Amino acid sequence: MRSMTLEGSTGATKIELGFPFTSIGEYFHDKRVVMITDSKVYSLFEEEFPKGQAAVLGSGELVKTLESAYEIYQFFLAQELDRSSCVVGIGGGVVCDIVGFCASTYLRGLPFGYVPTTLLAQVDASVGGKNGVNFKGYKNMVGTFNQPQFVLCDFKFLKTLPESEVRNGIAEVMKHALIGNGLLFSQLEENQERIMSLDENLLEEVVYESLLVKVGIVTRDERESGERRKLNFGHTLGHAVEKTCGLSHGDAVSIGMIMESKLSVMKGRLEEKIAERIKTVFEKLGLPVRAELDRDAMIDAVRKDKKREDHEIHCVLLDEIGSAKIARVRIDELEEFFDDLCEYC
Ligand code: GLY
Repeated sequence: MRSMTLEGSTGATKIELGFPFTSIGEYFHDKRVVMITDSKVYSLFEEEFPKGQAAVLGSGELVKTLESAYEIYQFFLAQELDRSSCVVGIGGGVVCDIVGFCASTYLRGLPFGYVPTTLLAQVDASVGGKNGVNFKGYKNMVGTFNQPQFVLCDFKFLKTLPESEVRNGIAEVMKHALIGNGLLFSQLEENQERIMSLDENLLEEVVYESLLVKVGIVTRDERESGERRKLNFGHTLGHAVEKTCGLSHGDAVSIGMIMESKLSVMKGRLEEKIAERIKTVFEKLGLPVRAELDRDAMIDAVRKDKKREDHEIHCVLLDEIGSAKIARVRIDELEEFFDDLCEYC
């Protein structure tokens, strides 16, 4: 079992990998604990939940609302929680986001932590301290920065995930590798089959290496005033792909990373053959690298992106595998590149 600690401004998060969920009761000894999960996780693992301690939410992004938060506060009230109680969110990104938000705001803050049950939540949503709910169609509009006390990862949960969900997690691991960990990239390159079959020993190593990147960045820039923006690699063009092609967020960001690697080549930062190597590994891991792109619709979407400032947009460009820089790219320059970019994907 590997572990690491994220030292945040609101407290430290102890992250434990390979933690057996069946020992969750022992983890808290005699502490008062309530658990919140979603209907999918509960239907698959009900037997393993300590009896009578779990509230069950519906599943999916639509649950991430103030209305659901209201229900969770009612549950906290009925359970007579006080500041010595602990709240545990067990599920994917939606559960982590909403449980972190409710625990952070109820009684001005209860101790809380997560048992992330998707690969994406293990390497991303459970770590970093951002939480929140959507509001009037805007994602994560209401929320806080507040670090969980613990994140406990049991890889057994990943075995029940649909392939598309595993892909979303691998895309996130790949993002961390490309922006900050060249050795992790080589590991992904050399062990495609073991990764796809969710080999637990390899997963523990890969999740650990991936988290080292995120934990390092968040420790240096918790409030996203600079370096944390690197975690948006693939998102500037990925959002435009998501909007114009109707692909899932994960698949669109995967294509966005390929486009932004190519953009890094066009800006003279990255060698062409390295961009090709990246694309090949994506293909072997089953990550999407192309879509039918409409150049004009893409440009329109980039123009409307909230990361745009005047005639420029923030992009994350690669210098090499494992090293990225935040750069401002002029929209007219992007337009110039778009024919090539769209053709490349
Ligand atoms: N909770 C996810 C993050 O802070 O990035």
